[in-house]
Amino acid sequence: MIEMQGKTVLVTGGSRGIGAAATRTLVGVGARVVIHYGRNRAAAETLAASLPEGHCHLVAGDLAYAATTEAVWKDALAWQGRIDVLVNNAGIYEAADPDGDLEAFLASWERTLRVNLTAVAQLCRSATHHFREHGGGIIVNVASRASFRGDDYDRMNYAASKGGVIALTRSIARKCAADRILAYAVAPGFVATEMVDQVIEQDGIEDMVKDIPLGEIAPASDVGNTIAFLASGLAPHATGTTIDINGASYLR
Ligand SMILES: NC(=O)c1ccc[n+]([C@@H]2O[C@H](COP(=O)([O-])OP(=O)(O)OC[C@H]3O[C@@H](n4cnc5c(N)ncnc54)[C@H](OP(=O)(O)O)[C@@H]3O)[C@@H](O)[C@H]2O)c1
Repeated sequence: MIEMQGKTVLVTGGSRGIGAAATRTLVGVGARVVIHYGRNRAAAETLAASLPEGHCHLVAGDLAYAATTEAVWKDALAWQGRIDVLVNNAGIYEAADPDGDLEAFLASWERTLRVNLTAVAQLCRSATHHFREHGGGIIVNVASRASFRGDDYDRMNYAASKGGVIALTRSIARKCAADRILAYAVAPGFVATEMVDQVIEQDGIEDMVKDIPLGEIAPASDVGNTIAFLASGLAPHATGTTIDINGASYLR
């Protein structure tokens, strides 16, 4: 049912984890994907090599900085001369202990907000400008269960950044629908990627799974498939919505 032949999608943080899963599904339904990565070129190359030739293009850039974020958009756009869908997936999950050193606390808040929220807003800005000139387009932003439920005491920075992603997405959906620009969010709970390996190491997997009625951490493909569905344009009137992917661990 999902068909994306002729569509070009930019997936930030497409090199591994959820971004790689989304890339696989998107290419599987015919899309061309710009795989953005931060530092790990090898992972991006391995992913591209595993997919049909000519369907992927690699773009690098640290999203903590405005200039490189701008360059990421321009490089991605230059590949096919247009982008139909932007998937803002890249993100960081680092601790900022409120009871620890103030400078370290503030530095982590700053970094987290830059990568998880400001860069998302900047890329949405570029995308909406581009989409307006091309009759519309789609944005899918990766938020989190933490956007609504909150997170641990030392991950308030993360929860706040992801709450911002929801407010940003809804604002774009409301303002830009008249230009046929659609904006969605997905809100995963724990997903089996390198990002949660640190939590598993710290807390143990039993603790994480006990609150998930489905009894396991979600595979990245569940999120990747949901992103591809939203990116396909099959549900325009769902614009502004957030799809939860958390095994019923948090229902709102
Ligand atoms: N895993 C979960 O349980 C979970 C739950 C809810 C929401 N999420 C969200 O889902 C998204 C993907 O998470 P994931 O679990 O797939 O994470 P991951 O496995 O850690 O992958 C993160 C991706 O983001 C890129 N990235 C990180 N910092 C960057 C920066 N400063 N500049 C450019 N790229 C950067 C990485 O690129 P390089 O490897 O090249 O550096 C990588 O491709 C994130 O927004 C995360 O917050 C994840």
